[in-house]
Amino acid sequence: MNIQSTLKIAVVAASVFAFFFAQPAEAADGKNAYKKYCQACHQPAGKGLAGVFPPLADNPNIKDKPDYIAQTIVKGKSGAVTVNGTTYNGSMPPMAYLKDADIAAIVNYVNTELANGSSTIQADAVAGSR
Ligand code: HEC
Repeated sequence: MNIQSTLKIAVVAASVFAFFFAQPAEAADGKNAYKKYCQACHQPAGKGLAGVFPPLADNPNIKDKPDYIAQTIVKGKSGAVTVNGTTYNGSMPPMAYLKDADIAAIVNYVNTELANGSSTIQADAVAGSR
């Protein structure tokens, strides 16, 4: 094998690596931020705590509503919400101090990994909801 073909293989291998690992790296940021800022209440895997903290997993109120999730993080939430037949009437503190990019990563993690949604938002859309 000559040097050119060795180089080509190295370049192909690097692109394949980048293709498979670049996206999950972003998702992992959302997951880490979720653990840090949301999990204490909404619990690991977003299952919530019956009657106290609503689940985010399999929650049809939030599925594919990234703007609603972002707004809830920025402004907090109080008043009754009903999720899959259980009513919650608590209060979530606003977390407007989080950066747009972190909020976007959390929203995308929550929607696509917990709520079975597929839509995502970018940091500039979060900026618009402030
Ligand atoms: C201190 C506890 C607490 C933390 C931390 C918290 N939440 Fe909440 N969250 C709540 C409570 C309580 C409610 C329900 C509020 C109500 O009854 O109106 C809620 C509601 C929500 C809702 C609306 C659910 C619905 O069905 O409409 C979303 C979305 C949400 N939280 C996302 C998040 C995300 C994402 C984070 C992390 C950035 C987070 N929460 C952090 C307590 C918390």
